[in-house]
Amino acid sequence: MVLEAIKYTSGDLQILDQLRLPHESVYISVRTSEDAYHAIKTMTVRGAPAIAIVAALALAVELLELPEGDPSTASTEAARSFIADKLHYLVTSRPTAVNLSDAARKLEKLVAETEGGSKAVVDAYVKAAERMLIDDVSDNKNIGENGVAWARQSFGSDKFSILTICNTGSLATAGYGTALGIIRSVHANNLLEHAYALETRPYNQGSRLTAYELVHDNIPATLITDSMASILLKTHPEIKMVVVGADRVARNGDTANKIGTYQLAITAKFHGVKVVVAAPTTSIDLLTASGDDIVIEQRKPEEMVTMRGPVVDADGSVNKNEVKTVHIAAPGIGVWNPAFDFAPASLIDAIVTEKGVAEKDADGKFHLDKFF
Ligand code: MRU
Repeated sequence: MVLEAIKYTSGDLQILDQLRLPHESVYISVRTSEDAYHAIKTMTVRGAPAIAIVAALALAVELLELPEGDPSTASTEAARSFIADKLHYLVTSRPTAVNLSDAARKLEKLVAETEGGSKAVVDAYVKAAERMLIDDVSDNKNIGENGVAWARQSFGSDKFSILTICNTGSLATAGYGTALGIIRSVHANNLLEHAYALETRPYNQGSRLTAYELVHDNIPATLITDSMASILLKTHPEIKMVVVGADRVARNGDTANKIGTYQLAITAKFHGVKVVVAAPTTSIDLLTASGDDIVIEQRKPEEMVTMRGPVVDADGSVNKNEVKTVHIAAPGIGVWNPAFDFAPASLIDAIVTEKGVAEKDADGKFHLDKFF
C-alpha cells in the first residue's frame, strides 16, 4: 500500500484522516474551501506542504463543481475576486507554516494575470493547484538525494543513525516527505544504521504518524519520548545527524518547526551532532527577517491535557470500535500550548532543499536568496 495523505483526481479530493491514524485508515472527502479550512484547523490534515496543497486543491474542486453561469465566476473579475477571497480565508486556518500563504499568494497572482474570460481564470487556477501536488513529490525526492549527498560528504560511506521530530513524511506532504524523505533516501542508499523518532508531544505526530510510516517502510527504527533526546545523543555516538522539517525558514535561516525543535537543536549542538533542516524552497520566507518575526500558533489546552485513542482490552488487544478521550492532567491547571518554536540559524548546520544545500559562510550566515 502506498502511503498517501492526499488523493486527487480532477474534481475529487480525498484526505487521509490523520486524527484516526495509526489505528484506522479512513479517507474523507473535501469538496469546498470550508471543508479544507475545517480539516486544516482540526489537524485532520497537517504538515506544512500538505495543508497548502489541500487548501489549493479544495478550492479547485469547489470551482469545478460550480454550475455553469454561477454568478461567483460569471466574469473574469468575479472569478478572480471569488478565488482571492477564498484563498484569504484559507490562509487564516493556521498561521505558522509559510507554504499555505506562499501558495495562496502565487495562485492569487496567477489569476490576477490571467486574461481570456472567467473560464480561462478557473482553468489556470485548477491547473496550477494540480501542479503543486505533482511538484511536491518530485521536490521531496530531490531533497532526499541532496540530503544523501550532503551526508556522504560529511560522514563518509559508513552507516550512521538519525534522530527526527514530528512527522515530515508522506503524511505531511504530497508524498515521500522532507526530513523523513532524507531518512528514506539514506536507508535506500544503504547508509542508515537506525532511525529514532521523538514521540512529539502533545499531538504525538512522532508516535502516531512517523512511527506508522517507519513501520510501513520496514525502516529499522525506535521511538523515544521527547525528554530522552539528550541521553540518547550522549550514549549513541553513531547518531550523526538530527534532521527536522520546517514550517517557515526565515531569511537568516532561523527555522520554525514543531515545538521541541529548539531544544533538540540545542542538545544536538551540545553533543556535536549535525542539525539539518529539510525543506522545500516553498518553506523559505525571505520576507521574514528572523525567527522572532514568525507568528507561533497557540493551540487549545485540551490537546495537551487530554489523549484520544482506542481502548486496550483486558487481553492487551487494541479495540478500534471503542475510541475514548481521557484526561491526563490535574483538572484546573493552567496550560501553555505553542504548536511550534524555532531553532536559531546558529544551531543549524545545513538547510537541504530540492534546489541544493545551504551552509553558512565563514561569518556564520546563510544566504538563502541563492535559491530564488
Ligand atoms: O502541527 P503540524 O503537525 O502541522 O506540524 C508539522 C511540522 O512541524 C512539520 O515538521 C513541518 O510542517 C514540516 S512537514 C514536511
